Amino acid sequence: MKFYFAPMEGVTKYLYREAFNIYFGNIDKYFTPFISPDKNTCLNKKELNDILPEHNQGMYVVPQILTNDADDFIMTSCELKKYGYNEVNLNLGCPSGTVVSKKRGSGFLKETKVLDEFLDRIFSGLDMKISVKTRIGKDSPDEFDGLIEIYNKYPMEELIVHPRIQKDFYRNTPNLKAFADAVKKSKNPLCYNGDIFTAEDFNRIRGMFPEIDMYMLGRGLIANPGLINFIKSGDIPDNQTVKQFHDKVLDGYKKLMFDEKNIMFKMKEFSLYLVHIFSNNEAYIRRIKKSKTLAEYKAAMNSLFIEQEIVPGAGFIPPA
Ligand SMILES: Cc1cc2nc3c(=O)[nH]c(=O)nc-3n(C[C@H](O)[C@H](O)[C@H](O)COP(=O)(O)O)c2cc1C
Repeated sequence: MKFYFAPMEGVTKYLYREAFNIYFGNIDKYFTPFISPDKNTCLNKKELNDILPEHNQGMYVVPQILTNDADDFIMTSCELKKYGYNEVNLNLGCPSGTVVSKKRGSGFLKETKVLDEFLDRIFSGLDMKISVKTRIGKDSPDEFDGLIEIYNKYPMEELIVHPRIQKDFYRNTPNLKAFADAVKKSKNPLCYNGDIFTAEDFNRIRGMFPEIDMYMLGRGLIANPGLINFIKSGDIPDNQTVKQFHDKVLDGYKKLMFDEKNIMFKMKEFSLYLVHIFSNNEAYIRRIKKSKTLAEYKAAMNSLFIEQEIVPGAGFIPPA
């Protein structure tokens, strides 16, 4: 069984990945949040920092690229190769309006002819492993059949399927019927992604698709960094480990950023997931959200770590 860490813009950059790997690990591949090349630059400064080998020691990292331009994909992949990468991932899932309006991410899924030509160019133009992370359509799951037919023409390292359409964003439940169709029809190795927040979720999906042995987790891991270990061995992390992990990310941001408010905003992006696994978390969520200074934020988190316990089996709870 292979477990992959989903790319999450704003959360899973290198500081986070590095700390995660020290305290939790158990990840076969970490996918970077998307790199968005343009005609002038393959990698901007932040994107370069995220993929530098010295920031990604001891981990298998797959850089993700978001584009609909084959030349930009190829150029960026060649640049990544210079830094030692031999595998890249194409983002065909991003649902954000600004991305979709440019026919990128899940916005590219509707342009089947152009997408086919794009895939033809990148698969014939690169001698690197290429995986694809896709939704099941832009406007309707009915698009997925045609997409699988296109994907089947190319030798993908793996096809990671998040079985939602663009219009779902992260609402509604993953369309497991569409994923079952993919299991039947895909010639590429499949990886399942979507709403695995607890070991119970994992066991349910695993039970439905026993032939699938690659799983990508995002929000479930941000909320419960010990989830994979729990799935594998039933062990839950202790508060001290989770605190050390949190503090390591915080120390990293302190070295990188000078404005304490910005550090606090950055930390809130992931700790508001992390609180989900603690007992009696409502008051702490309010306190963290209300914090206006880094000191207030740290005090709220420290109280959480001292006063509450990690609830066995708890996981991310999506907003209603
Ligand atoms: C805040 C946020 C940022 C994300 N950034 C990316 C990204 O950069 N690239 C990508 O392919 N998917 C991105 N995703 C989607 C996740 O990788 C994943 O597909 C999605 O969260 C569903 O998996 P999960 O239910 O395990 O979280 C993002 C999702 C969220 C919530």
